Amino acid sequence: MSLDISKVIKGESVKFKNPPKAFLEAVGGVDGMQELMYRFYDKIYESEISHFFPQDEDEFEKIKIRNSKFFIQICGGPKIYEDDKEGQDMDEYMVRLHDDFSINEKARIEWLGTMREAIEEHKIEDKEAVEAFWDYLDSFSKLTVNTFNDGSTYYASLLDKSDSRLGN
Ligand code: HEM
Repeated sequence: MSLDISKVIKGESVKFKNPPKAFLEAVGGVDGMQELMYRFYDKIYESEISHFFPQDEDEFEKIKIRNSKFFIQICGGPKIYEDDKEGQDMDEYMVRLHDDFSINEKARIEWLGTMREAIEEHKIEDKEAVEAFWDYLDSFSKLTVNTFNDGSTYYASLLDKSDSRLGN
């Protein structure tokens, strides 16, 4: 199974598919996804991007909970994340949320590498589902990158469908 990380190209059109429900099932349902995401965030604490995240334990706990809910929902599970975000495009919301942080390619690679470790330790049998989940992460994470090596910034937009950045 190859969980590769592809490169971000500033301004490129990023197409992605939400992960299949098969991944939620393969990971062990709602409880399994929560376990995976907690494992991921425990590793984030030890990673080179820990400074991006709240240092206060209670605040970090809230992020862990919201993050788990998001991934459960995005994999076709119950709509438990979007409760208070009704009417908003979930993908666009998620991209904007990351605009508060200066995320460059190096941070994205660290984030993905950390997630890959968590996924591998979780020992998921359905490799096809894992690859589909990974494809989503590899693609969608490009939209969170807003800071480039030449010092410039670029904020991806999904709302402007004319540039066909949103694929299905
Ligand atoms: C597939 C890519 C990604 C997805 C789906 C994703 C999703 C999420 C979600 C669901 C949350 C919690 C949102 C909430 O508070 O309601 C979050 C928070 C956060 N994400 Fe991401 N993320 C991605 C990539 C990244 C990357 C590459 C970074 C790089 C550093 C990053 C940095 C952060 C930070 C710093 C927060 C905490 C925000 C806060 O303190 O409120 N994310 N992300």
